[in-house]
Amino acid sequence: MSRLKKIETDKDSSGVKKPRKGRKEMINVTGMRDILPQDQKYWQAVSKVAEKVADDYGYGRIETPILEYTEVFARGIGKQTDIVEKEMYAFEDSGGDNLAMRPEGTAAIIRSYIQHGMINQIQPVKLFYAGPMFRHDKPQSGRYRQFYQFGYEAIGEPNPALDAQLILMGWNCLNELGLESVVQVNSIGCPTCREEFKKALVKYYKPKTKQLCESCQRRLIKNPLRLLDCKEEGCQKFKDGAPQILDYLDEECKKHFMKVLEYLDELDLPYVLNSQIVRGLDYYTRTIFEYWSNDDSEGKSAMGGGGRYDGLAEILGGRENTPGVGFSMGMDRIVSKLREKEINVTETYQPEIFVAQLGESAKKKTFVVYEKLRKKGFKVAQAFYKDNLKTQLELANKLKVKFTLILGQKEVGEGTILVRDMEGGIQEVVDFNKIENDIAKRLDKWHQQKLEKFTAPEEGDMPEVRPKGEKRAKDLEDFNDEADSNFEGAYGGGDAMFSGDNEDY
Ligand code: HAM
Repeated sequence: MSRLKKIETDKDSSGVKKPRKGRKEMINVTGMRDILPQDQKYWQAVSKVAEKVADDYGYGRIETPILEYTEVFARGIGKQTDIVEKEMYAFEDSGGDNLAMRPEGTAAIIRSYIQHGMINQIQPVKLFYAGPMFRHDKPQSGRYRQFYQFGYEAIGEPNPALDAQLILMGWNCLNELGLESVVQVNSIGCPTCREEFKKALVKYYKPKTKQLCESCQRRLIKNPLRLLDCKEEGCQKFKDGAPQILDYLDEECKKHFMKVLEYLDELDLPYVLNSQIVRGLDYYTRTIFEYWSNDDSEGKSAMGGGGRYDGLAEILGGRENTPGVGFSMGMDRIVSKLREKEINVTETYQPEIFVAQLGESAKKKTFVVYEKLRKKGFKVAQAFYKDNLKTQLELANKLKVKFTLILGQKEVGEGTILVRDMEGGIQEVVDFNKIENDIAKRLDKWHQQKLEKFTAPEEGDMPEVRPKGEKRAKDLEDFNDEADSNFEGAYGGGDAMFSGDNEDY
């Protein structure tokens, strides 16, 4: 208890744990965290949907290294961006190379596209990726220094239909997870029309310089587009009167954007035309978009974002006019939304059988049974390191398995094994050599019964409803009482048989 308290008092103002001076206990690096086994079900649910969407739309998986030459990101994302200027984990390695831990995936993927001559494949080359990204940002809720993204990039095709389809794919990812989102869409045109827009922005904001936050004062000089993206209250009030990018789009950019919107209308997808989103990376051209949760009206914690980047390949040394479009989703934020909304995701590992043993010779045999069942694809659990049968059965109960196979000295001698139905508490003796077939049949029957339960019962034919946990707990209680008095007899052993039982083993 004192340790817990101690950790709690060691949080900084943003709620992030910090190591206390002089204390020996080690903790994770600020802004980075462990994803524990109990949280994996959320992460796996997100990964599964991401992979399914990649399959559905024909995106092949690509892995790029965590480390790239710093230049890939500096040139790709833009030297004036917050990511490159302030947030990159960049260093010189012992060989004198300037390297950076990837802050995002797109620039590295384009580097790979160029390096491996993917331009010679059928275009667009459609790539899917997932993994950790690193940004040395101020840690706060929904913002980590190691965070996880999955994303999709379609390289080599300028058609606006592709923009619309990618926007839909991201929305589908969230929708399949049960999350409602509104897509924010904008166009920032090509570099030519953007230059005019930037000038107009500077003209509008310059007289207000003193009222702007420190970052915006810097943005005014270095990256005026980002002025529109500021979430500071003091700066927000100027946004409404600011020039609108859509008024500065040239004919081609306007045509492209109108087409994207037409396709989106056709898709009947909830989107908002938001002229104030600009994105924080310099490589974008034309369409940009973000996914905001339907309860996040200001986009303070966007779940994903992306856009078109028709000039990126060229910036990274590739062929001129290599178009590209894509997006990535923030897995950390999606997981936290799933939790916040209490969305049920299925357990990643739910064993159906537990193999329990009592006595040394039985333990040896259960090793074999366990391996046989596991290899046949049964979902099976065990605790061979526990000698106490009651402890094993308690664990089986906690794991909510349907059947526990019990092997004791008596069963080993007789060539049998006990099959205990954990819900009903009924035990049956089965021939040891037939256990695989026997348990397969029992599980089939059980799955069938579960399916049948989905069909509505006849009126007046409602079964007594008893919470499963309560029933299991009650059964276990009965079983344990029974076990205390009967095990000895049931297994034909004497006190000596239990002498090896050791909770602390
Ligand atoms: P981004 O908007 O920087 O875009 O990141 C995409 C998503 O990653 C964000 O919407 C957010 O959910 C998540 N994210 C970003 N930073 C953090 C953080 N510090 N902690 C937790 N989550 C974070 C890109 O990265 C572009 N590469 C997207 C793209 C792909 N554009 C074209 N293709």
